[in-house]
Amino acid sequence: MPTRRAIRLHPLRGQPTGWSALEVVPWHDAGRFTGDGDDPGDRLDYHTGLVYPQDAASQVPVLLLAPRPGEVVIDTCAAPGSKTSQIGIALGDAGVVVACDADPRRRAVLGEVLARQGVTAAVVTPMPVAVLAERRPGCADGVLVDAPCSGHLPSPTERQCERLAVKQGRILADAARLVRPGGRLVYSTCTDRRIENEDVVRAFLDANPGWRPDPATLPGCDADLDGLGGLRLGAERQGTEPFFAIRLVRDQDGPVDTLAGDAPEPLPLPWPVPGTVMRLGGHAVAVTAAAAACALPAEVRGLRLGRIHERGCEWQPWGAQGLARRGAPATVVAHGDAAALWAGATMALPDAPFAVTDRGAPLGVLAGPPDARRLDLPSRMRRAGLR
Ligand SMILES: C[S@@+](CC[C@H](N)C(=O)[O-])C[C@H]1O[C@@H](n2cnc3c(N)ncnc32)[C@H](O)[C@@H]1O
Repeated sequence: MPTRRAIRLHPLRGQPTGWSALEVVPWHDAGRFTGDGDDPGDRLDYHTGLVYPQDAASQVPVLLLAPRPGEVVIDTCAAPGSKTSQIGIALGDAGVVVACDADPRRRAVLGEVLARQGVTAAVVTPMPVAVLAERRPGCADGVLVDAPCSGHLPSPTERQCERLAVKQGRILADAARLVRPGGRLVYSTCTDRRIENEDVVRAFLDANPGWRPDPATLPGCDADLDGLGGLRLGAERQGTEPFFAIRLVRDQDGPVDTLAGDAPEPLPLPWPVPGTVMRLGGHAVAVTAAAAACALPAEVRGLRLGRIHERGCEWQPWGAQGLARRGAPATVVAHGDAAALWAGATMALPDAPFAVTDRGAPLGVLAGPPDARRLDLPSRMRRAGLR
């Protein structure tokens, strides 16, 4: 049975425009099923970070984790970042989401996904989960283990699934050590195989008496196969990819630690920007206080705004989009004009540094004289034919 295409809407990036069908996902008010002919890549909505293509079932784990502003959250298997960005948006301008992933190339994509959605709370670290757990046990309010699973293999053998189950159990055990007393962990996979889902969780609970399931329900989702309090979704009943997710809570015993290090020197900008703007290498980044001070090696920290020169800052497109929605002066242009600007047109526009559409989506930074202003986009971004 085919699955339904779905997207997730960014709550700070305006209203979607011109889709053939948008149906609210029953378990997530920011989720939408789209029409089969709707390709997000053709849409300005995607390029302005309003829309992120994400299977509707894959939106469930972060709903169970329910991150709150100010919290420390660790996403242990984070790339390419669908769920890290969902967590970062939920944290807003307070807290930190630390993203780990064993694959450096996938971590590079993760950095882009976070930037596109303007996430300031993120720290992407190359530190392996086991090392982090060894050094900072009990540092997180919430941890997500969206485990590598057989759902990504074309026709997995029993042996492959057994090996994956061992790996999943190991990552889950390491990840659990990161959770503070009373904190929570969500374990999820995109396979319907019991051996990688209920069996992994049951083995973990048997070996860790300080943990218990925290049963959850969501509209339209099914219960897990063992009555553990987890959720299952799939093509036949929900129109999604196969999915399993369960929330576990730690009891009140155990170590407590923090990721807090020294606060960096703030870098002033001409406009108020939520959180801190700091210098990182030759760049200015907008970052939550907790992500700025997070004492971990980082490949990405906050949202890269632009390169700093003696004369000011050369804005990066996704940084500029983030600023345009966060209090920096922006010119409002109609959606049609926005598509033309995106395609390379010039037009007379008021002298504000940034542009947003009349539906609230941030376009980016404007350049050129007042009577022929253009949108400053790097050449590798797709320009033509966007609606
Ligand atoms: C299912 S994918 C994660 C998808 C991601 N959570 C998202 O929503 O975009 C599993 C990820 O686990 C990573 N991985 C595999 N083994 C790992 C390990 N031992 N520690 C951390 N990450 C690992 C893989 O590189 C892969 O990116």
